[in-house]
Amino acid sequence: MTKHRIGWIGIGRMGYAMAERLAKGGADLTVWNRTREKAQPLAAHGAKVADKLADLAACDIVFVMVSTWDDVREVIAGPHGLLSAGDVATKLMVECSSISLEGSAELRGMLKARGIDLLAAPVSGNAKVIKAGRLSFVCSGPKRAFELALPYLELIAPAASYVGEGELARIVKICHNVFLGVVTQSLAEVTILAQKAGVPRHAFLDFMNRSVMGSTFTRYKTPAFVNLDFKVTFTPQLLRKDLDLGLDAGRRFDVPLPLASLTRDILQSLIGHGTKDEDFAKLLVHHARSAGLDLEAEDVPVNDGLG
Ligand SMILES: NC(=O)c1ccc[n+]([C@@H]2O[C@H](COP(=O)([O-])OP(=O)(O)OC[C@H]3O[C@@H](n4cnc5c(N)ncnc54)[C@H](OP(=O)(O)O)[C@@H]3O)[C@@H](O)[C@H]2O)c1
Repeated sequence: MTKHRIGWIGIGRMGYAMAERLAKGGADLTVWNRTREKAQPLAAHGAKVADKLADLAACDIVFVMVSTWDDVREVIAGPHGLLSAGDVATKLMVECSSISLEGSAELRGMLKARGIDLLAAPVSGNAKVIKAGRLSFVCSGPKRAFELALPYLELIAPAASYVGEGELARIVKICHNVFLGVVTQSLAEVTILAQKAGVPRHAFLDFMNRSVMGSTFTRYKTPAFVNLDFKVTFTPQLLRKDLDLGLDAGRRFDVPLPLASLTRDILQSLIGHGTKDEDFAKLLVHHARSAGLDLEAEDVPVNDGLG
């Protein structure tokens, strides 16, 4: 369907699910991942798998979805990064990782020097949300960049909000994830309180999900809270990064964030107890321990609300 050659850097949990939708949507797609074998299954949907980053320099639009700002800098400006290719045909980069305002501004400067527009385009939703067609983008940068990217964003997600010039999308995403952390910790606390008072978790969360406090998020985290399936969707380490980005932004803009600060320390203590490669919903188990409860799976089928 596409008149542009699209490149994709970073085929992790999020990158895979996003790139898969582009490939299935008919985009002319070339993907690269540091661990090549994770990208290989995309070939079955018509994507080309590149051996080196510089191979993506022939693409008109390049998406990036890696972990941190340091990783973004490495894949773009590192010794083997995209810009190491002599000839770079790319006119637009759509950078989707959750990174700082400062990192994003530095990236914009680097790209501008090479005649490349940057659309900052972080997202809300995990890989399951992407598969369910419920992801949302928040975008900032030149309006022309948003308009050029929009047909491809729409192949990946039904919602793409344009919030203005520069790095504004980054602060929106940072605020979003601070809220995600605080809400998750709060949900863990009240779930454990209800359980210790005698209410099974599935019954408590069934009520919460149908109440005015229920949300897409509380519904899709319910299976993990009820049946203790902590297969990772988002790691505690990545959430800690986002809380740190929020706390840094709070210092920069002189905004107190007491709940974010507390949640960051609680998350640190979860990580310090050795949680790795498990979902951040494990905050529930961590809180249960503080309340003197050993949790067991309830083995009740629960709908995640994602269809
Ligand atoms: N998971 C979520 O629910 C979620 C939701 C919204 C936003 N996010 C954000 O999306 C981004 C990706 O998250 P994820 O959950 O997809 O993480 P992930 O599964 O750990 O994937 C990270 C990806 O980045 C690549 N990468 C990391 N460091 C690299 C480096 N130095 N050089 C080259 N490649 C590198 C990894 O390559 P390898 O495969 O070789 O390791 C992998 O493809 C993060 O910024 C996260 O905060 C995540």
